[in-house]
Amino acid sequence: MRYFGVIGSPIHHSLSPLIHNFLFSYLGISAHYDKFDIPSPSLLASTLQSLSGANITLPYKEEVFGLCDEVRGFAQEVEAINTVLCRNQKLYGFNTDGLGFWECIKNLELKTALVLGAGGSARAIAMMLKKQGVDTMIYNRTPSKVDFFRSRGIGVLETLEVKEVDLLVHTTSVGLDGKSLPYQQEKLQSLVSKAKYVFDVIYPSQKGIVGIDQFRDFFLSRPKTAFLGLSNQGMDGLEMLLYQAFFAFEIFCDGQYCFEELKALFYNSLK
Ligand code: ATR
Repeated sequence: MRYFGVIGSPIHHSLSPLIHNFLFSYLGISAHYDKFDIPSPSLLASTLQSLSGANITLPYKEEVFGLCDEVRGFAQEVEAINTVLCRNQKLYGFNTDGLGFWECIKNLELKTALVLGAGGSARAIAMMLKKQGVDTMIYNRTPSKVDFFRSRGIGVLETLEVKEVDLLVHTTSVGLDGKSLPYQQEKLQSLVSKAKYVFDVIYPSQKGIVGIDQFRDFFLSRPKTAFLGLSNQGMDGLEMLLYQAFFAFEIFCDGQYCFEELKALFYNSLK
């Protein structure tokens, strides 16, 4: 039996165990995936070493970048890790957030984007948008955290100006409670009304989703996030969560199953 898990804090809301355990069980793989609420970064290395692989969520994506023995693929550009493979006591870091995000929006016609927030998710999203040729800007409450973006050619807004953009992406951790907004409501309302498309990395949380049947009901009738409540359209982060998980699963299984196969399998089970 191999053990995997998602590491972060808070972690009680995470649906990652449900997704991965469903796939392990469906595919007959002897593995189990759990949640690890780590209150301090000092426990990250030992927790990672005790597992075959892990997903990393807030607030540790950047911290784990520094703990990896080798960083692979897009994670080298993002310098934030959401997937770790542990082999022979070595930690290999990956980032599947950017790919998962792109799978959600790749069919939209986008020239410009504004990303709100500057954490690990914002890095993956902004770098992926830039890589795909979208003119991307960022705004964050704490200006000192935007240097990473500026040095990589991503425009930085010093104040939250209301701009017309094709895509507005909310990546801050505010709203995990289902009701809070990161910045002044009127400002956000104006921004949202000027955006062609709106994306919230947050997905609504609901207690008691333990099996695929409960997940199906939630998937089909989930409430809006606080940020999407400002808009009459928009996508929440639930599909991005699924897609980054399928890409991570591919890594956990050494490419034995591919993203499209895992996506089809999971979505068929939601019908
Ligand atoms: P993740 O890895 O999911 O992106 P993170 O790295 O912890 O999470 O980043 C959290 C983001 O939410 C940051 O942009 C943070 O802004 P600061 O750099 O100013 O801290 C943002 N955030 C958290 N609490 C916030 C608040 N109360 N108001 C506005 N932004 C907030």
